[in-house]
Amino acid sequence: MTSIAEEGAVIRMFHVHKRYGAKQALVDATLDIAKNEFLFISGPSGAGKSTLLKLLYLAEPVSEGQILVDGMNLSRISRRRIPLLRRKFGIIFQDYKLIPTRTVYENVALVLEARGKKRSLVEKKVKSVLRVVGMEDRLTAHPPSLSGGEQQRVAVHVP
Ligand SMILES: Nc1ncnc2c1ncn2[C@@H]1O[C@H](COP(=O)(O)OP(=O)(O)OP(=O)(O)O)[C@@H](O)[C@H]1O
Ligand SMILES: [Mg+2]
Repeated sequence: MTSIAEEGAVIRMFHVHKRYGAKQALVDATLDIAKNEFLFISGPSGAGKSTLLKLLYLAEPVSEGQILVDGMNLSRISRRRIPLLRRKFGIIFQDYKLIPTRTVYENVALVLEARGKKRSLVEKKVKSVLRVVGMEDRLTAHPPSLSGGEQQRVAVHVP
């Protein structure tokens, strides 16, 4: 295994605390995640796993402490650069974040369209990612008609 000193940490958390009002969700979390490191974070329901991720892509501000992601100090990042930070993450949300009134194809295409990609490229990319997750024959289905696992597979956005 390569050490952090050799590779450099891509994510660093220093003494991070997160409170939601009076609720303490994270207490003094310090960790380094190295490039190419594969890390599992486990813990009981309500332990703070989703909170930890939300702090990393700035869905929630920290209450105390510092976080660095790929050299960016999240307490100093400008609003303009937040989308750049978020593009570094591929996240499968517990609640899927799919738009129920749009088809599988439209849901996956939306992000690429918002980024101004050409229609032909969007079509190619959407079909290719849906093939990877075995959902290429459900392009015209709407999320409520899919199983939980199928919705999760559609929600995988391969960058
Ligand atoms: N927006 C919020 N406002 C108040 N409390 C919150 C909020 N979000 C999370 N919490 C609380 O913070 C704690 C950690 O929640 P979190 O969602 O991080 O847990 P988790 O480890 O992801 O749990 P699960 O395995 O059930 O997904 C929980 O007690 C939760 O009730
Ligand atoms: Mg969670």
